[in-house]
Amino acid sequence: MGKQLAIEGGAKAVKQTGPYPTKIHVDELLELLDLWEFPAATRKTLATAIRKSAKAIKGPHLFRYYNPRPSKVEAAEKAFSNFIGVPYCLAVNSCTSALIAAMRALGIGMGDEVIVPAYTFFATAATVGACNAIPVIADVDDTLTLDPKDVARRITPRTKAIIVVHMLGLPAQMAELKALADKHKIALIEDVAQAAGGSYRGKMLGSIGTIGCFSFDYYKILNSGEGGFVTTHDEWLHTRAQSWHDCAACWRPNRFASERREGELFCGENYRMSELQGAVALAQIRKANMIVRGYRTAFRRIMNALDLPSGVKFQRLADPDGVVGTTLVIFMPNVEKTKWATKAMQAEGVPAGGIYDAKIKNWHIYSYWDHIMEQKAVAPDGLPWSGVKKSELPAYAPDMCPRTLDYLGRSVIIGINSNYTAADCRSIAEGINKVLAKV
Ligand SMILES: Cc1ncc(COP(=O)(O)O)c(C=O)c1O
Repeated sequence: MGKQLAIEGGAKAVKQTGPYPTKIHVDELLELLDLWEFPAATRKTLATAIRKSAKAIKGPHLFRYYNPRPSKVEAAEKAFSNFIGVPYCLAVNSCTSALIAAMRALGIGMGDEVIVPAYTFFATAATVGACNAIPVIADVDDTLTLDPKDVARRITPRTKAIIVVHMLGLPAQMAELKALADKHKIALIEDVAQAAGGSYRGKMLGSIGTIGCFSFDYYKILNSGEGGFVTTHDEWLHTRAQSWHDCAACWRPNRFASERREGELFCGENYRMSELQGAVALAQIRKANMIVRGYRTAFRRIMNALDLPSGVKFQRLADPDGVVGTTLVIFMPNVEKTKWATKAMQAEGVPAGGIYDAKIKNWHIYSYWDHIMEQKAVAPDGLPWSGVKKSELPAYAPDMCPRTLDYLGRSVIIGINSNYTAADCRSIAEGINKVLAKV
């Protein structure tokens, strides 16, 4: 006869386990300190102090859900929704993910068309294809953001959304684009990857359209290495984006309940932000006003000190007060003068660059998007291109948006740093003026 089972009142076989060290403890924190590149002596002092208190600490929980402590990701979402001025904000792991979650939340899929600008980082257009929809490329104008007139020409019965991109820290023409989207009852998705903290007529970018998508990757105004946010006024869109970003079921308000409304349950992906990114993003958001103020001040100082000769123009600003000011764009009269002025400014030490050169690939310009120009597909089903009849696909060609190529070919862009002092701005303006006087 065996021993009495615990379930029948016998002694438990397992009386105690552990305590085991938590999965993540001080070794991981010390690796993080390496990323911050403290001097060796500081690292040693910190490491000694940290190891001394190691027993007293539990170690972090880096998954936002199930977290027994206040979540940094949730705090970052709250801080960002306050900053942007929207009631709903979802943290994700990139703006690419944010764009897909936004389109999936809107129900965009096979056979739908989404209008994107000819000048934007490739991710804006690629995510449309990743949703099995067709990217329809529209010209930009002298704001280097979507030309509302060209967008109007490209709307068809299949158009489900316009993705407006606030390029280079500059707000797009939101009044015209919103009127267009409202008239045709289509969504206006704001890609604010390059313009966090910018505004248009007093409203923060990312709070004006149907849904806003932000990047917190390393190169952006605010960053957590990688990361992103989806902002909206619409609770249902937020719910669906949240579902898509978390395998579409795990953390609905009542996890295992039947759907409250059709469209709440579907198969999704995993775009969750980790607590590591959440902590860094939160610190960045707390500094956001200061960072944006730094860019704006430098932008205005440089712009106001420039003397443009005839034939040379600034980029048109859809709202000068809302500019973040990461870049200042100057249009030259022709391509030769653009190339010469860029080189001459660089020789003066000005952080100048050109945008378009027919010989140099640039993922921000539609003509280099081979994936779209040549309609490449990830699987034999041929999607997204096979989702519509061949004759109904846009006539993709590297010269389909000549106005965009003309503006980009004549642009000199001046990179701006939020830490520039008044003296930095004076010397940069002096360098630009010196060169422009010879144009
Ligand atoms: C306009 C624009 N949209 C989307 C993205 C994609 O952002 P992420 O790197 O966070 O996926 C970028 C990144 O460079 C961008 O510039």
